[in-house]
Amino acid sequence: MNPKIVTELPGPKARAIIETDTKYTSPSYGRVYPLVMRRGSGVMVEDVDGNQFLDFQAGIAVCSTGHAHPKVVEAIQRQAADFLHMCSADFYSPVMAELSQRLTATFPGGGPARVFYANSGTEAVEAAMKLSRYHTGRDKFIAFLGSFHGRSMGSLSLTSSKTAQRRRFGALVPGVHHVTYPKAAGETAQTRAAIERLFQTILPPEEVAAIVVEPIQGEGGYIVPPSDFLPTLREIADQHGILLVADEVQCGLGRTGKMWAVEHANVVPDMICSSKGLASGMPLGAMMARGDIMNWTPGAHASTFGGNPVCLAAALATLDLVQGGLMGNAAAMGQRIIDRIAGWPKRFPRVTAVRGLGLMVAIDLAPDGSVPAGDVRDKIIERAFHRGLLLLSCGEAAIRFMPPLVVGADDVDCALTILEGLLA
Ligand SMILES: Cc1ncc(COP(=O)(O)O)c(C=O)c1O
Repeated sequence: MNPKIVTELPGPKARAIIETDTKYTSPSYGRVYPLVMRRGSGVMVEDVDGNQFLDFQAGIAVCSTGHAHPKVVEAIQRQAADFLHMCSADFYSPVMAELSQRLTATFPGGGPARVFYANSGTEAVEAAMKLSRYHTGRDKFIAFLGSFHGRSMGSLSLTSSKTAQRRRFGALVPGVHHVTYPKAAGETAQTRAAIERLFQTILPPEEVAAIVVEPIQGEGGYIVPPSDFLPTLREIADQHGILLVADEVQCGLGRTGKMWAVEHANVVPDMICSSKGLASGMPLGAMMARGDIMNWTPGAHASTFGGNPVCLAAALATLDLVQGGLMGNAAAMGQRIIDRIAGWPKRFPRVTAVRGLGLMVAIDLAPDGSVPAGDVRDKIIERAFHRGLLLLSCGEAAIRFMPPLVVGADDVDCALTILEGLLA
């Protein structure tokens, strides 16, 4: 689709809504630009003033099947008309049994696996932390600098992408140690050395429950680690009886062209956390673990709303679409983006690097005289909004492209033409 901007931005209706929102909604939300959405369809987002935008951020990689995919909407409506809730922690439902079977069938290495359902990414990570402790009887964790795993107290102890996320929140879960996430070939050896140094100095390996890692670092900058990184973590984990948890909340469910990003490295993790793209925009989290690891007993962990049947129905429809072709489209469209932007660092002095896997692609921006790179980046994102292209930032000075997996070749070409105009 081509964007259509028909008012100044924000338009009059948007301005009135923003004024009310600013008075009454939590100021902790870091609103990026003044978009007030009214409706969406596929990669198109329309605001309350009738402006139409091309969405290359999908609600932070959530609307995997595009906005309001008819099959997802139909599944939600059907389930909502039957029943909205009966507490999945206490009773059974056809949608949960079916989704558990379908999801665990995707577990790398063939399983057998089991699923715990939550409402969000952070809750899926909390569940992984709790199960790691429960199963191993150990209480320490290794995580990576630059990572984002959520904002509740447990997952925030792992999160380390920005100090603003931790400032003034006091002591978090103790026993979490951070090491550097390798960015380039050859850097895995330094990460291994850092972990071994921890084992020799302050962290007895037999006290470590799990290594928690994003197979592609998301908020930290869409960093695709060197190919030996995940296999090295698997090796260290196996050597010391430590569990390997893959946080695929952002990179999972087909976005990289494979169901799970760990599959690119041929690594079988012990647990996978999923959420964002899982139910196309409905709030659902899932923590999958190998069957022998998920040995907690009734009452150990549960949630009133986790595994809500309407969200589960949306996830089943999402899975149908992802496995029915969207995963392949993500690989093809991701390659189309990379092919076109690979030459940008040579063409545009503002662009210092491009990288990505499937529809998780980023470019790094350079400073402009005394203007820091992060500010240059924010300015470009703001201007893209005014031209009808929705983008988001990540890392220190990167713009990320994470459109819905339904994105087409024309959409890709249109978005990149807009960006090339801005960069020039
Ligand atoms: C890799 C990763 N893990 C966990 C989370 C937390 O998810 P939520 O915001 O749903 O709690 C995010 C959110 O951006 C994420 O990118």
